[in-house]
Amino acid sequence: APLASVLGVPSQQGTTEGTASKEVTILYGSQTGNARGLAKKASTTLEGKGFQVSVSAMSDFKPNNIKKVKNLLIIVSTHGEGDPPDNALTFHEFLHGKRAPKLEDLNFSVLSLGDSSYEFFCQTGKQFDARLEELGGTRLYPRFDCDLDYDEPAAEWLEGVISSLGEAKAGIPALTQVTSTQSVESTYSRTNPFRAEVLDNLNLNGRGSNKETRHLELSLEGSGLSFEPGDALGIYPENDPELVDLLLEELKWNPEESVTINKQGEVLSLKDALKSYYEITTLTKPLLEKAAKLTLNSDLQELLNDSEKVKSYLEGHDLLDVVRDFGPVNSSPEEFLAILRKMPARLYSIASSLNANPDEVHLTIGAVRYNAHGRDRKGVCSIFTAERLQPGDTVPIYIQHNENFKLPANPETPIIMVGPGTGVAPFRSFMQEREETGAEGKSWMFFGDQHFVTDFLYQTEWQKWLKDGVLTRMDVAFSRDTAEKVYVQHRMLEQSKELFQWLQEGAHVYICGDEKHMAHDVHQTLIAIIEKEGSLSREEAEAYLADMQQQKRYQRDVY
Ligand code: 2AM
Repeated sequence: APLASVLGVPSQQGTTEGTASKEVTILYGSQTGNARGLAKKASTTLEGKGFQVSVSAMSDFKPNNIKKVKNLLIIVSTHGEGDPPDNALTFHEFLHGKRAPKLEDLNFSVLSLGDSSYEFFCQTGKQFDARLEELGGTRLYPRFDCDLDYDEPAAEWLEGVISSLGEAKAGIPALTQVTSTQSVESTYSRTNPFRAEVLDNLNLNGRGSNKETRHLELSLEGSGLSFEPGDALGIYPENDPELVDLLLEELKWNPEESVTINKQGEVLSLKDALKSYYEITTLTKPLLEKAAKLTLNSDLQELLNDSEKVKSYLEGHDLLDVVRDFGPVNSSPEEFLAILRKMPARLYSIASSLNANPDEVHLTIGAVRYNAHGRDRKGVCSIFTAERLQPGDTVPIYIQHNENFKLPANPETPIIMVGPGTGVAPFRSFMQEREETGAEGKSWMFFGDQHFVTDFLYQTEWQKWLKDGVLTRMDVAFSRDTAEKVYVQHRMLEQSKELFQWLQEGAHVYICGDEKHMAHDVHQTLIAIIEKEGSLSREEAEAYLADMQQQKRYQRDVY
């Protein structure tokens, strides 16, 4: 018997016999594009097996149409402190609200993406999964919660889903679309990165600045890779060699010892494995749990019994701390490496336009250095870039398309850009693109940083765009040049009347940069501006902005 009937899933035979093939709806919620990529891949695979698939972002799906769906696959990531991605917000709210319909005819399965170093790991996926069941749906295959390295579990989930769905169409062999899948996979991707040559690597901040912001130029020549303004670049960095040395000293292992690092049997020296293959700076609870089994020191198990203590230990500590605090490690090097996560790529918003700089990609990267628990610590990728990448070196990269952050289709549509600090990056790309393509729409940039003299990133470029009319207006907020701090949102508020006028004319609003403080405050400021200048209630102003978001006129790229 097909697995579906074993699981008690209502049979679809009645509708699948004859000419109609079995329908599957895939809805994704994606912030950086990973869930979207998986959804498209699942769609291609299912179509290849003869299913009739419709795939869309949750934001492009009419929530009420959920009543008509028979087989639903949800692929969704979790963002920040357990929040749904922006393009999942409306659907998530609808489904969890009082007006959500009964879904007794629905079969569903959820694939959730997340990062196990966060407390609310995969929370959005878990919520959808529980809610769909609550509304009467039948789970056709169990939910899979994926960590950063999601490729294998995602493939396993899809396989399980397909066998639960059963035959797509009785009697007719599946039509495979091998050619299209192959052509997609032959280009460079996250799982097959391109080694890009470093063309230039500059510090954008002046002497005496509190900050170091790198401008990195990479060559895409020969890669066949392309991107649009708003897309991101993934970089696979290397760990700090000093940190690797300290770790190996602490473990008392020979750095040159050979170790097998994956199922494919790839062999590296222990030192190189820790430098480029594994994550050694971010801790997760699953990692601590596995580490507890490799040490005779019972303090770690004791810590794990107190969830508050675990939470606070995860912050600011790294693998070297674990070995120092809870060692000695009582395992072979390979057993120890097996508890680590693979080095995840870091995503950066692209700061250049391919039209303006063919075969190149530029990034704006803030160097992260801080002290925690009595030791100086460094951001892995930003410091790899700042301290160790030289022109002529190569670095593994891939393009991450981001459909949630795109210039308006109409070149005449006005745009408002809010990008303090490294949040400036995609707007340099936007301006280069609009200049290169001769777009006529008005544009308004809000930039902020600490000091005018040392921190005005790409100052001369902005001044030239203003002079040439590519940029219509620019307002800057240098927070530490005055006794009282001024931020971008204060500048926005000062111009509230005109800003609202632009919104009424159909302007798109973009925010890029720090999520926790800046993007949140700017969001609140936008609501305040709409409320005041539109003579609306707070609720109406919120609805105005939500409507803009729904129409993709309000887009955020925040981190
Ligand atoms: P600060 O460092 O003086 O606090 C880019 O990092 C700029 O964003 C800096 O000028 C920084 O100011 C500012 N910034 C910090 N918190 C912010 C917030 N909540 N809203 C807007 N800008 C903020």
